[in-house]
Amino acid sequence: MFVTPIVAVALAAFPVAFAQDLTNFVGTWSSGAKNVVTGAGFANPANMSFTYPLTTGVSYAFSEDGFYEVARYRFTSNGASYSKSPMDQRTDPSCAGAEPNCITGVLNWHHGTYTKETNGSLVLTPFGDGFQQIQDPCAAETNFVETYNNTELYQSWQMFYDQTDGLKLHLFQFDGSPVAPLFQVYSTPNMLPTQLLRNDTTTVDTGNALFAKNAGSRSWTTTTVSGVVSGVVVAGVASLLL
Ligand SMILES: *[C@@H]1O[C@H](CO)[C@@H](O)[C@H](O)[C@H]1NC(C)=O
Ligand SMILES: *[C@@H]1O[C@H](CO)[C@@H](O)[C@H](O)[C@H]1NC(C)=O
Ligand SMILES: *[C@@H]1O[C@H](CO)[C@@H](O)[C@H](O)[C@H]1NC(C)=O
Repeated sequence: MFVTPIVAVALAAFPVAFAQDLTNFVGTWSSGAKNVVTGAGFANPANMSFTYPLTTGVSYAFSEDGFYEVARYRFTSNGASYSKSPMDQRTDPSCAGAEPNCITGVLNWHHGTYTKETNGSLVLTPFGDGFQQIQDPCAAETNFVETYNNTELYQSWQMFYDQTDGLKLHLFQFDGSPVAPLFQVYSTPNMLPTQLLRNDTTTVDTGNALFAKNAGSRSWTTTTVSGVVSGVVVAGVASLLL
């Protein structure tokens, strides 16, 4: 490309306008339609409640001084496509006895501290007040809330600058699978206070190896408890790793 001296001078004079720091992911990030965003609009950890976003998605926020927050809203199905939300399926006769069509809804929130490891990985260590709500219309336990306190390892991360979308962040999970591409929605972290926001005093050991390490208090919205429960919980936890 032919660059005129005047353009060259202009470029040299305003390098900041063209430079993007792709080594620092401080800010607030959100996938897809950007309806899921960390902060007060999503979760209330004090009473373990969520405000339902308009669409599913994931959001991450990182502060300069080492704090993170994660917000996720997912529907997962056993490979079947199904357009109804989990609770609407309850009243749909075609759902009855047809578990493969069932969609599980998971809302998940946690916060804590992050470290960028020398091998390029990213480790999110939770404070202990994280929680999630799982809705499974085809299970005995249709809707319940439980604590979530998993340390999350991300094998690697990468930032890009795109003319159309601006800054983008790609995170790769412990097994290398990518998180949906994240777009920067704010250059600053949109976060609840970076401290423990709820004290859990009740501990429930489900006896399930995968779940045991996250076991904590639960508030059940139905009273039925059956052997299906731990399977549902495992499915819910597993879906978050996707
Ligand atoms: C949780 O607390 C918020 C704020 O006080 C309130 O608006 C909301 O209704 C509560 N939700 C539940 C499920 O208690
Ligand atoms: C990178 O470091 C983290 C934290 O020390 C560790 O858990 C992870 O296994 C390491 N990854 C590789 C590929 O060595
Ligand atoms: C949550 O996990 C962190 C990191 O492993 C740990 O330090 C903390 O004690 C855990 N909190 C609870 C309530 O289990």
